[in-house]
Amino acid sequence: MKTIEQDTLSLTERDLKVIWHPYTQMLNAIIPTAIVRAEGSYLFDDDGKRYIDAISSWWVILHGHSHPYIADRVSAQIRKLDQVIFAGFTHEPAVELAEKLLGLLPLNQQKVFYTDNGSTSVEVALKMCVQYWHNQGKSRKMVLAFHHGYHGDTFGAMSISGRSAWTAPFDTYLFEVLYIDTPTAENIAGLKKQISEVSDQLACFVYEPLVQGSAGMLMYGATELDELMRHCRAENVLLIQDEVFTGFGRTGKHFAANHLREAPDVMCFSKGLTGGTMPLGVTTCTENIYNAFLSKDKLKTLFHGHSFTANPLACTAASASIDLLLREETQQHIERICRRHAGFMSRIHNHIRVESVRQTGTILAIEWRTETGTSYFDDLRNLLYDYFLSKGILMRPLGNVIYILPPYCISDKDLDFIYDEIEGALDIY
Ligand SMILES: Cc1ncc(COP(=O)(O)O)c(C=O)c1O
Repeated sequence: MKTIEQDTLSLTERDLKVIWHPYTQMLNAIIPTAIVRAEGSYLFDDDGKRYIDAISSWWVILHGHSHPYIADRVSAQIRKLDQVIFAGFTHEPAVELAEKLLGLLPLNQQKVFYTDNGSTSVEVALKMCVQYWHNQGKSRKMVLAFHHGYHGDTFGAMSISGRSAWTAPFDTYLFEVLYIDTPTAENIAGLKKQISEVSDQLACFVYEPLVQGSAGMLMYGATELDELMRHCRAENVLLIQDEVFTGFGRTGKHFAANHLREAPDVMCFSKGLTGGTMPLGVTTCTENIYNAFLSKDKLKTLFHGHSFTANPLACTAASASIDLLLREETQQHIERICRRHAGFMSRIHNHIRVESVRQTGTILAIEWRTETGTSYFDDLRNLLYDYFLSKGILMRPLGNVIYILPPYCISDKDLDFIYDEIEGALDIY
């Protein structure tokens, strides 16, 4: 039953009374926009205003919001089996999704472990690699990662992410990591040397392949990553490929893995996994990793799980989303977005306000030239956020970097509108 207050206050007023939002300084937080409906590339607020979701709602939506095919599949599933404990029990959606996903991944990926978000998929990957060595009585404890990486907000995931303002209050609680730069043709020899010097202590190397999303859509080459992976493999360092962001078409191919010759030992997925409709995490691994946990000794078990591990509804949504991803029509949309982004990139790369413009597949990032350089806390960020929102476009700049990674169903007309508004903003700010 609603109270009188709930009847008289707007949704945003009620929100401000009871909700603490993520990544938000609540003291001077902007009033949140109340979204009441979403369809395709659009979000609709309580005044009926329409916004183009240019960032796929934190990089998760693949085929458009409220896709009827996913909705129908999930709706049928919830009437049949909503949730069941996943230890000692199994169900069709979990098995079907594992089979489908493994069928798309590098051949060495053989087993699926379910969690419920990107950070936990990374936690499991870390545990798999650390315990892989522990179970064999070998002491390899250090983790190798890239500077400025981002792998999530839980403590393990924070530990292997770059140290930043986000991690500062917790830094003394985070385990030590060896950080290296992302590879280039110039620095790769030095990176390999750095790795070799400590390789006998390294349990694993964890990396965002090709694009470091949260760092500001920083991009680096597949050739150099392949070389680094090959070197780690030669030095017996396990490879964790975090495809939480890059998975499911974002890079123009199904996975960043499809740009690479080398295959990792462990892979992490979430975000677009369910087409962005539900929380779900997946960690896949090789038979070799899996086998290191098979033992009569109970202590060699992977002791990890979550209440909602392999939730049947989320698995069904993911299975439906993969069906949609594999459709010819979706692949054509992905190619179209890649092409359109490339065209826009050449249109603006000489603009006086453009420090750099970069693209990997459907991800386009534009770095604004500012006097202060790159900073997440740059005032420009808020100006640009407000500017685009006032134009009916949801963007969420990372400091002075704006990026577009739309749902694949976005129309050419809406892409043109976004491109034109970006050009307009470049002339103003
Ligand atoms: C590469 C990568 N890994 C892990 C995560 C964490 O995912 P989640 O926010 O679902 O915990 C993110 C989130 O942005 C990410 O970009």
